[in-house]
Amino acid sequence: MFRQAKWSEPLIFELGYEGRRGYIPPRVDDEVKSVVGDVLARIPENLRRKELNLPQLSEVEVVRHYTRLSEMNYGVDSGVYPLGSCTMKYNPKVNEELASLDSVAYVHPLQDESTIQGSLRLMYMVEKWLAEITGMYRFTLQPAAGAHGEYVGCLIIRAYHKFRGEGFRDEMIIPDSAHGTNPASAAMAGFKVVVVPSDEKGCVDLKALKSAVSERTAGLMLTNPNTLGIFEENIVEIAEVIHDVGGLLYYDGANLNGILGIVRPGDMGFDIVHLNLHKTFSTPHGGGGPGSGPIGVKEKLEPFLPVPVVEFDGKRYYLNYDRPLSIGKVRSFYGNFAVIVKAAAYILSMGAQGLRAAAELSTVNTNYFLKCMSNVKGYSLPYDPGKPRKHECVLSAEPMERETGVRALDVAKALLDRGLHAPTMYFPLIVKEALMIEFTDTETKENIDAYVKVLKEISDEAYSNPSTVKSSPRNTSVGRLDDVKANHPRFLVPSWKVYMRRLKGAGG
Ligand SMILES: Cc1ncc(COP(=O)(O)O)c(C=O)c1O
Repeated sequence: MFRQAKWSEPLIFELGYEGRRGYIPPRVDDEVKSVVGDVLARIPENLRRKELNLPQLSEVEVVRHYTRLSEMNYGVDSGVYPLGSCTMKYNPKVNEELASLDSVAYVHPLQDESTIQGSLRLMYMVEKWLAEITGMYRFTLQPAAGAHGEYVGCLIIRAYHKFRGEGFRDEMIIPDSAHGTNPASAAMAGFKVVVVPSDEKGCVDLKALKSAVSERTAGLMLTNPNTLGIFEENIVEIAEVIHDVGGLLYYDGANLNGILGIVRPGDMGFDIVHLNLHKTFSTPHGGGGPGSGPIGVKEKLEPFLPVPVVEFDGKRYYLNYDRPLSIGKVRSFYGNFAVIVKAAAYILSMGAQGLRAAAELSTVNTNYFLKCMSNVKGYSLPYDPGKPRKHECVLSAEPMERETGVRALDVAKALLDRGLHAPTMYFPLIVKEALMIEFTDTETKENIDAYVKVLKEISDEAYSNPSTVKSSPRNTSVGRLDDVKANHPRFLVPSWKVYMRRLKGAGG
């Protein structure tokens, strides 16, 4: 269960007692005093702190305070985390161990190349493995997240068309089931977004696609399996439609976990892919990063990759900036190196068979869950309910909403009350009252059973006493937040001083 903590949980500044101590620093000798004095003398008078009001606490109070705070958090290490589209799989601790080795943690991007041959080799190898896994020619590891990869991919598409004298191609086709970052990235890269609808099976409507393409088509952005967890079976025909008019296919790799080691985007006809190392390749994810969204391209797009690229001349690894057609630099230095190391550790420890098993298990977990949910009142499975899903599925709480007034949002809050993390909600936009659930390959059957039991319990409560569900959560640190204020910087309380002032009613 979540800790039953409330806003009244004290700050460390509200704890303690004058004169109480947890640590007595060693006496400072005269030599140190004179060095510190010299340093202090260089700090301008107006910048010197005149007093330091630290709370006075014993060691046990400090330990208890921070332990209490850590218990208020929830993560993949605490329990089920079935955020659809986020692939919140277990993050093996060996990855963390390797990423915190001195040779990784302390390597500096401005070091001479001769001193970082190991790091360059690792990047070179990861690039090759990702190319093999996806069926691409070459990768760059620089983009910092999936959305950044999309943006870089769109810049490459633009550069490619321009180079061929087809700069007039200014339309990017995107299905209505796509993640919001797809149209945002395309628009940022200067494209006009053309939306194609999904058909009754939840796949790209081929007829609509055919009538959307033209000589202005720059490309199509697609994720497969799509955000409903459905594999786009017409992918080869979709690729033909786009290629026939001179466009390129962009693969949003956020859902690669559903097909890893089984089928490759490159073989489906995609020209560019991004991968979310922080999803499929097991880096911790959430709270804003750090992530990594490498992109891979087919051979014809290789000259446009951002600089630098890691090369090997048979003797040494080096960074090559001499690439006249490159779109240029997209990130400081060479990407989030620690995340790349974690992906390397993951790929090596899983091996080819293990990666394939991850896709198979994630698919088995989804379909087992769906089977268990098939008779639970209030939830439906829109779009071709008889069709198996891949790594994730999207239930709709629309029947429950219609019959009891309890919405997907209420179900999510009621899950929190029972100590479980909520699924992704209200996405994809083509499903009303969407609950998008992804257990990933690392969840156990017992935990899926427990999740089903709770969803059923919430359904029973919705039909017997809807107001209880609608007034949840009651057991969490905070109750229902104002969705707008909770996301607005004006209402954030970033420092304890502001918090204390607000507490005392002095405003922020
Ligand atoms: C389908 C899909 N595409 C793209 C993205 C964007 O990836 P990132 O969050 O790494 O920017 C996500 C993220 O959840 C996603 O689910």
